[in-house]
Amino acid sequence: MTTVVTPLKRLADAHGRVARDLRMSLTDRCNLRCTYCMPADGLAWLPTPEVLTDEEIVRLVGVAVELLGVRKIRFTGGEPLLRRGLAGIIAGAAALRTDEGVPPELSLTTNGIGLDHRVSELAAAGLTRVNISLDSLDRQRYATLARRDRLDEVLDGLAAADAAGLRPVKVNAVIMRGVNEADVVPLAEFCLQRGYRLRFIEQMPIGPQHGWDRASMVPADEILELLGGHFALSPTAGRGSAPAEEWLVAEGDCHPSGTVGVIASVTAPFCAACDRTRLTADGQVRTCLFSLTETDLRTPLRAGATDEELADLWTGAHESKWAGHSIGRAGFRQPDRTMSAIGG
Ligand code: 5AD
Ligand code: SF4
Repeated sequence: MTTVVTPLKRLADAHGRVARDLRMSLTDRCNLRCTYCMPADGLAWLPTPEVLTDEEIVRLVGVAVELLGVRKIRFTGGEPLLRRGLAGIIAGAAALRTDEGVPPELSLTTNGIGLDHRVSELAAAGLTRVNISLDSLDRQRYATLARRDRLDEVLDGLAAADAAGLRPVKVNAVIMRGVNEADVVPLAEFCLQRGYRLRFIEQMPIGPQHGWDRASMVPADEILELLGGHFALSPTAGRGSAPAEEWLVAEGDCHPSGTVGVIASVTAPFCAACDRTRLTADGQVRTCLFSLTETDLRTPLRAGATDEELADLWTGAHESKWAGHSIGRAGFRQPDRTMSAIGG
């Protein structure tokens, strides 16, 4: 018999939201150097002693699921496949039970490199889905964008995830003006042909050297216009907390029907429906990608705090979660950590 445990606490905030979706960063390191994410020579990586151990990660994930009502966990990086203990962490999380009495939904945001070699092990450990980043299908453009010539390995990873049944395979693409607009239609065609769910994400000011500018971001409207010139699109029913605004794509000459998503994180923020909480690889709670403050769980954890005490610190962070980011408005400040050190 399964006992359904009512969570004692929830990650509720003053704006009526409850976080049930945890983004857990496993490392700030990466084997790519995507221009919108990292400087060419990388970043100063977190010193190893500051990074949570596999056991510490499983413990904190357990607090989130079993005491705080978290139902979904997305493991991110940097590049989470660089974490040697990944399968063990997934297995540890899969053994947990949510307030609904089932294992949490476990997914991975990855650049796909090396996934083909590990996907069966990860699926066996309990991984249910993957989100693979792919910004171009053109080898040269991919290499320029990611600063590494590794497109073939990404494509192998994608195919392997699909073959392992981690469906629907989701693909994330960031489009930048003058860089990869030419990839919008080919990426959509590629994904429709294979039944992958493609989502275009507006480039957010969370990249290196605070170098974002609104003019080089390709807004959702423009991506939709490019898609609309090629595919017959119709809107799907309204969105919940999922940020992708989904469009139905009618069957075409060289692809079956399917969907494509456009995430307008900058031009149409979905903060009001946000159900996320984030934990960095060094054990800091962030209630928002753009938070300017963090709540340290690592220090109390290592000092012997109980699960209850850790849960209280986590709920405390959410009680003061802000209503939303203010990208594009006066007073917006980019956080010091970049995406790779926060977890996408
Ligand atoms: N804006 C939007 N998306 C980004 N990603 C990384 N940096 C940015 C940014 N500045 C995406 C990656 C990956 C996910 C983790 O976040 O492409 O798909
Ligand atoms: Fe690595 Fe992802 Fe950043 Fe690219 S966007 S450098 S794949 S962490």
